[in-house]
Amino acid sequence: MEENGTFIHCSEKMQEIQMIIDQLADTDVTVLIQGESGVGKEVVARSIHLNSSHRENPFVKVNCAALPQELLESELFGYEKGAFTGAYCQKPGKFELAEGGAIFLDEIVEIPLPLQAKLLQVLQDKEFPRLGGRQNVRVSVRILAATNKNIEESVKKGQFREDLYYRLNVVNISIPPLRERREEIPILVEHFLSKHGMKYNKKVDSLSGRAMQTLLEHHWLGNIRELENIIQRYVVFGNERVIIDGLVPLTSKDFLQEGEAENLPKREGLSQKKRFSLRTAVGKVVMEKESKLILDTLELTRWNRKEAAMMLNINYRTLMYKIKKYGLKGQFSSIREELYV
Ligand SMILES: Nc1ncnc2c1ncn2[C@@H]1O[C@H](COP(=O)(O)OP(=O)(O)O)[C@@H](O)[C@H]1O
Ligand SMILES: [Mg+2]
Repeated sequence: MEENGTFIHCSEKMQEIQMIIDQLADTDVTVLIQGESGVGKEVVARSIHLNSSHRENPFVKVNCAALPQELLESELFGYEKGAFTGAYCQKPGKFELAEGGAIFLDEIVEIPLPLQAKLLQVLQDKEFPRLGGRQNVRVSVRILAATNKNIEESVKKGQFREDLYYRLNVVNISIPPLRERREEIPILVEHFLSKHGMKYNKKVDSLSGRAMQTLLEHHWLGNIRELENIIQRYVVFGNERVIIDGLVPLTSKDFLQEGEAENLPKREGLSQKKRFSLRTAVGKVVMEKESKLILDTLELTRWNRKEAAMMLNINYRTLMYKIKKYGLKGQFSSIREELYV
């Protein structure tokens, strides 16, 4: 995650999101951010916080999927001394730690139902007791939530409380996957090259047209996180092969959403060249072995082609054809040429 809040974009869709961020950053409205994994939900959440007048106050992230219910509850709301075995002293929760700033509830759909009820209450009252406590703690914290799951579907299935959904979904930001804003790939690449170049203190060349083409055509199921990882690897190894061989090019239209195939940039026969064929591969190995065997035999006979043809049990004309085909040459090839051809 970009701790410094760098939010790179140039597509129209992301420009719209930037406008929404600008408009709501300095309010206290709750925002629900949706989008596939790696699209930049956390980047957007941080950007909202950093554009608000509370930017000097904490931005506290909680991954709601990472902890079982009891631990998540104490993580969020804290506990009093003696609240449970092992609670040797009072501990504030993430809500308290985020006082004056924002709390980012990531993977919000994963919150177990009983905790959803408690969270709803906290959102309404802005106060809650720590676990094992009687007195309420008041907090002034902005709520930002995110999910890569279809939260509306979870509501329909009864896995996510509808009232909590409406509380969170005051403003909804839906971040499109990278494959729907491929025009941003070049500036993102530029950004990650300089970011990781600095981090590893390495100066790397900008990408060749071919490598960039591979990136432009890739399906990016892992979105910007996947792109950043591949550029990081390129910076570390300094070799474009990690891009060209590391990414399986788009070969199946199954992945694509309707209408996407037509929008793909033309591939200039790249996939044709890259497609592996067993027959071609085996053919190459056989040819290498054959030419080596013929050359060895010719050297053995000091380029006496008749003798070599006999030893190889092929006729003279076939041998001559193969010598030409493989461009075979040796110490005695020209002398013998005059004698035998
Ligand atoms: N617009 C962007 N500009 C710069 N870096 C980005 C952008 N979007 C995502 N990233 C980077 O990609 C990675 C994944 O982003 P993140 O916000 O964690 O995605 P999500 O929360 O949607 O899974 C992070 O390392 C982040 O820094
Ligand atoms: Mg995330």
